[in-house]
Amino acid sequence: MSDDPVRRVLFVCLGNICRSPTAEAVMLQLIVEDGLEDRVRVDSAGTIRYHVGEPADLRMQDTASRRGYTLSSISRQVTEGDFDRFDLVVAMDRDNLSDLHAVAPRSHDHVRLFSEFLPEGFPTDVPDPYMGEAGFDRTLDIIEHGCPAILEHLLSQPKSA
Ligand code: 4NP
Repeated sequence: MSDDPVRRVLFVCLGNICRSPTAEAVMLQLIVEDGLEDRVRVDSAGTIRYHVGEPADLRMQDTASRRGYTLSSISRQVTEGDFDRFDLVVAMDRDNLSDLHAVAPRSHDHVRLFSEFLPEGFPTDVPDPYMGEAGFDRTLDIIEHGCPAILEHLLSQPKSA
């Protein structure tokens, strides 16, 4: 077991410009509200490199900012090292999850689907607003409902070596 008390969570979607940067910002707000800055770190990444280096989609930024969130992350692609660096890797939909399993150097039970942390009645996949699967507000609603349980889960897990 490692002595490092810090827990790290990585949110992953396709482009890292809509859903995962939003989850990162929502989680960061919870961390700050709960005074957990020294115990929890959050990041996000995409499975494709198409948008690497870009800020979050402006429509997503606008929607998030109306609820008090700042999407400040810059798109990056997930790497093999992320699977060791993060205690929890959260895929926003099932396609992202299977892409992650294809990249993972070995099977990892800390790679999970966002909707596992949602209350009953929510969709299995966080809809992609970039592709028009839902409006930006609906996507944000869903993310806001899942993040508290993810934070709770993270804090309840023993630190892996
Ligand atoms: P995200 O949305 O995965 O939530 O960041 C998308 C962004 C870009 C693309 C697809 C989804 N794209 O195909 O470029």
